[in-house]
Amino acid sequence: MSESLMRLHFLLLVLLCCVSLSTFATENAHGGGLVGCRPRQIQAFTQFKNEFDTRGCNHSDFSNGVWCDKSTGEITKLRLSACLSGTLKPNSSLFGMHHLRYLNLSGNNFISSSLPFEFGNLNKLKVLSLSFNGFVGQVPSSFSNLSMLSVLSLSNNELSGSFPPVRNLTKFTVLRLSRNHFSGTLNSKNSLFELHELIELNLAFNSFSSSLLFEFGNLKKLESLSLSSNGFFGPVPPTISNMTSLTALYLGQNSFTGRFPLVQNLTKLSQLYIFDNHFYGTIPSSLFTLPFLKVLYLDVNQFSGSIEHPNSSSSSRLERLKLGYNEFERKILEPISKFITLKVLELSFPKKSYLIDLSLLSSLNFLVYLDVSGNNISRASLRPDYAIPLNLEFFFLSYCGISEFPKILKALKKLEFINISSNKIKGKIPEWFWNFPRLSVMDISNNSFNGFEGSVELLGNSSLQEIEENIRNSTLDF
Ligand SMILES: *[C@@H]1O[C@H](CO)[C@@H](O)[C@H](O)[C@H]1NC(C)=O
Ligand SMILES: *[C@@H]1O[C@H](CO)[C@@H](O)[C@H](O)[C@H]1NC(C)=O
Ligand SMILES: *[C@@H]1O[C@H](CO)[C@@H](O)[C@H](O)[C@H]1NC(C)=O
Ligand SMILES: *[C@@H]1O[C@H](CO)[C@@H](O)[C@H](O)[C@H]1NC(C)=O
Ligand SMILES: *[C@@H]1O[C@H](CO)[C@@H](O)[C@H](O)[C@H]1NC(C)=O
Ligand SMILES: *[C@@H]1O[C@H](CO)[C@@H](O)[C@H](O)[C@H]1NC(C)=O
Ligand SMILES: *[C@@H]1O[C@H](CO)[C@@H](O)[C@H](O)[C@H]1NC(C)=O
Ligand SMILES: *[C@@H]1O[C@H](CO)[C@@H](O)[C@H](O)[C@H]1NC(C)=O
Ligand SMILES: *[C@@H]1O[C@H](CO)[C@@H](O)[C@H](O)[C@H]1NC(C)=O
Ligand SMILES: *[C@@H]1O[C@H](CO)[C@@H](O)[C@H](O)[C@H]1NC(C)=O
Ligand SMILES: *[C@@H]1O[C@H](CO)[C@@H](O)[C@H](O)[C@H]1NC(C)=O
Ligand SMILES: *[C@@H]1O[C@H](CO)[C@@H](O)[C@H](O)[C@H]1NC(C)=O
Repeated sequence: MSESLMRLHFLLLVLLCCVSLSTFATENAHGGGLVGCRPRQIQAFTQFKNEFDTRGCNHSDFSNGVWCDKSTGEITKLRLSACLSGTLKPNSSLFGMHHLRYLNLSGNNFISSSLPFEFGNLNKLKVLSLSFNGFVGQVPSSFSNLSMLSVLSLSNNELSGSFPPVRNLTKFTVLRLSRNHFSGTLNSKNSLFELHELIELNLAFNSFSSSLLFEFGNLKKLESLSLSSNGFFGPVPPTISNMTSLTALYLGQNSFTGRFPLVQNLTKLSQLYIFDNHFYGTIPSSLFTLPFLKVLYLDVNQFSGSIEHPNSSSSSRLERLKLGYNEFERKILEPISKFITLKVLELSFPKKSYLIDLSLLSSLNFLVYLDVSGNNISRASLRPDYAIPLNLEFFFLSYCGISEFPKILKALKKLEFINISSNKIKGKIPEWFWNFPRLSVMDISNNSFNGFEGSVELLGNSSLQEIEENIRNSTLDF
């Protein structure tokens, strides 16, 4: 046989094998792919798939598949996402794939499977993602065998028990355990605090119940720390100021107390979420000199006083600010009006009520979302000739004690959502109100309207999707 003919035969063989053995046969951009796999490896992969119902697989998703090492022919990478349905059994052929370095089985439907102890066999793994599955039970102790692991994602499962065994897993850079049922405390001996290489730690939406230890400050490389929606309590330790790599800090929906956390030296911080806790005291003015701070959610706490704008206009990049349900002073509006980069501003239901003048915010040209529900809005500032941020798309004005139709709305040509429910607005709804080109949701319920101007046909022509019910519940009398 000539050399070229031989090559042709070989090619045909390869093509046949791939087409018949696997619909997931893929070539990755750097060569490799199923083509480079040993027959026994291909068999193991096929066997693995046959352990499950694969009717839900997306056969045109070419990021699914196996990849083999070119020189050894062993499977080193396996990714099957949103595909498999069934139980992952301890005798699964998966656990014979000892050379796996990357394993991504996220978004499958492993019906009430627990995590088999045999995962401990795959001790060459660097990346393991089992997120968005139905895994139940505890993380087996064999996971501490995975000493090469750098990325572990177990989020969005039904896992329980205390913080999983990570002793010796010092190479961790990313650890995601969010949206499970993990519980218990994190004491100072927890192996978590030995993970000095961690860049991302996500424990959000679990049931951890613990104070935040000084040891958190050991995790100096952390860029993103999420502890949201747990039972963390007590003050945030001062060691937080040593975590100078932090860009995002999520502490919302816990029971933290004490004064504002010491984040002023975290110069890379871009997002700070500490809403829905029991923090009190004033907001440190140095907070607003953080050069990259974009998102600041402080709502639902007991903060008081005012805030101070750093004066030099270049120093703030703040885009999203939530301050509602706190005890701030009235004069807070003036400094807010200087944060001219704001896109989202929420000031709803202050615990101390005072009269506010919306025109103070008219300097905020980028503002698209404004929530002033539960504030006492000055009547004058709702008049048509008053200034208001003109680019508003989402406007919340419920429980503002408004008694006349707020004519100032007429100027808001970009309005998509308006909520003026639970005011005391009397009279007719003006005709122009139905004509906002982009309006899709309005809530005008719980007012005292007695009809509207113009013809009923207007309603049919408007872009509104969610209006009927609200009108019905309003005391309308047509
Ligand atoms: C299947 O995967 C392809 C490629 O990723 C994608 O474009 C397509 O939307 C997916 N189909 C379904 C039904 O998810
Ligand atoms: C794996 O174990 C199950 C019982 O849990 C058994 O039914 C099945 O035959 C076993 N599969 C293999 C390949 O050994
Ligand atoms: C695993 O696959 C999912 C689904 O495509 C993807 O979103 C995720 O980023 C992958 N995880 C890792 C760690 O590569
Ligand atoms: C750890 O890995 C080795 C090598 O694969 C294996 O022999 C051993 O059983 C594993 N231990 C556990 C606890 O999984
Ligand atoms: C951690 O590593 C040490 C030494 O390398 C070893 O003796 C110990 O068994 C390991 N612990 C676990 C839980 O794997
Ligand atoms: C920050 O770290 C240094 C050494 O790395 C340590 O001396 C200091 O006490 C730490 N500060 C806080 C507030 O934890
Ligand atoms: C912030 O850094 C300055 C200068 O390095 C230092 O004096 C101060 O103690 C630090 N503040 C906190 C809260 O760590
Ligand atoms: C901003 O300037 C005013 C006076 O113009 C001053 O009273 C205030 O202290 C300054 N604020 C800051 C944070 O520098
Ligand atoms: C709202 O402000 C007006 C005018 O100052 C005042 O009469 C009224 O009592 C205030 N209402 C509330 C609920 O604070
Ligand atoms: C309007 O605001 C009220 C009170 O804040 C709220 O209960 C209602 O759900 C909102 N309506 C819509 C459509 O979001
Ligand atoms: C209607 O609005 C009033 C305030 O104007 C409020 O006190 C009342 O609770 C609201 N009722 C409902 C059912 O939302
Ligand atoms: C309107 O009232 C009905 C019952 O009276 C209630 O089921 C519905 O949720 C209300 N809708 C709104 C938007 O308040």
